[in-house]
Amino acid sequence: MTYQRCISVTLLVVGAWCGFSSGDVGDFSPCLKFFYQGWPPKGIAGTPICQRYENQYRFATLYGRSRRSPWFSAYVFSRPEGKRPRGHWKYEPQLAYPTAGGNMAYFPKSKLDPNVAESQAVPQDYSNSSYTRGHLNPSLHHQDRTDRKATFTLTNVAPQREGSNDGPWATFESQVNKTLSEYCKGVAYVVTGVIPYLKERWIKQRRVAIPEYYWSAYCCPSYSQSLPESLSKRFPTLAAIGRNDPNSTEEIVPVDRSKKKPFLGYDVRPMSLQTLEMYLTKRYGTNFSVFYEQCSGS
Ligand SMILES: *[C@@H]1O[C@H](CO)[C@@H](O)[C@H](O)[C@H]1NC(C)=O
Ligand SMILES: *[C@@H]1O[C@H](CO)[C@@H](O)[C@H](O)[C@H]1NC(C)=O
Ligand SMILES: *[C@@H]1O[C@H](CO)[C@@H](O)[C@H](O)[C@H]1NC(C)=O
Ligand SMILES: *[C@@H]1O[C@H](CO)[C@@H](O)[C@H](O)[C@H]1NC(C)=O
Repeated sequence: MTYQRCISVTLLVVGAWCGFSSGDVGDFSPCLKFFYQGWPPKGIAGTPICQRYENQYRFATLYGRSRRSPWFSAYVFSRPEGKRPRGHWKYEPQLAYPTAGGNMAYFPKSKLDPNVAESQAVPQDYSNSSYTRGHLNPSLHHQDRTDRKATFTLTNVAPQREGSNDGPWATFESQVNKTLSEYCKGVAYVVTGVIPYLKERWIKQRRVAIPEYYWSAYCCPSYSQSLPESLSKRFPTLAAIGRNDPNSTEEIVPVDRSKKKPFLGYDVRPMSLQTLEMYLTKRYGTNFSVFYEQCSGS
């Protein structure tokens, strides 16, 4: 189908007609397989991105255009093997040019396209900030090397303090790996997102919004019938909220003062899905729902 025809059809019907030449940004329908029961989280508005790399969908992201960072990424967990790949950072061409190809692309070594820099975060935003590029969908929750490489797109990261990214949040991600690798028998769906500050904070003068907290939840409807007692409350779902600022109040996540610097103040609090949804509902001011029927409909 030609581009012209594609546009006119799009106006009448939906982007689906345009297949791979468009529709990866703006619509989750090509990548609903990354959501439990094909049901994306409810309660937050943004730009859906079906994250495509080397011509395959790898995961899904709800992107906040004005924040130049994601609200959440959703993916299917698979047991990791081998080392973490080197991060070659990519961007989403369709955020700048709606008719561009749907595959994520590598940042060029030469001068940046200003339309790309306007539409999303670029490596320079992070390079001189005191924040790391905190993956929402982490490379270590995937077996396939190409799936792992696909997580290195700036549309899948938000500004995260090193004390969280290399500390309690990394520990939490590795616990999730262990729990799901050992006891989840079927598909495990994971959604990881951010909670903004009540009054937004930014790196580089309103370039990229900084989250006050990270959150995550998994849904594994089919799990081992011989769970150890300590894990009985972790199936079929578990959620958590992690601090990204030692100065935050302790209402949501208390601080363990016996932790050592640089990890002091970056605690992660595991909690039930209901408790997570309660905090998200409160902060977003709208009923927030992460999984279809709270992952109970197996
Ligand atoms: C980062 O800071 C250094 C030193 O202040 C400066 O030379 C460099 O141009 C900055 N880089 C970016 C991408 O802003
Ligand atoms: C993930 O968990 C499995 C099962 O416990 C373990 O063998 C593996 O080393 C873990 N991988 C990572 C990257 O932590
Ligand atoms: C926390 O507050 C202290 C004192 O006001 C300040 O120096 C520090 O930069 C703040 N830390 C963060 C992560 O905002
Ligand atoms: C949230 O859900 C409750 C119960 O279903 C409903 O009464 C309430 O109006 C909803 N609130 C919003 C902001 O949608």
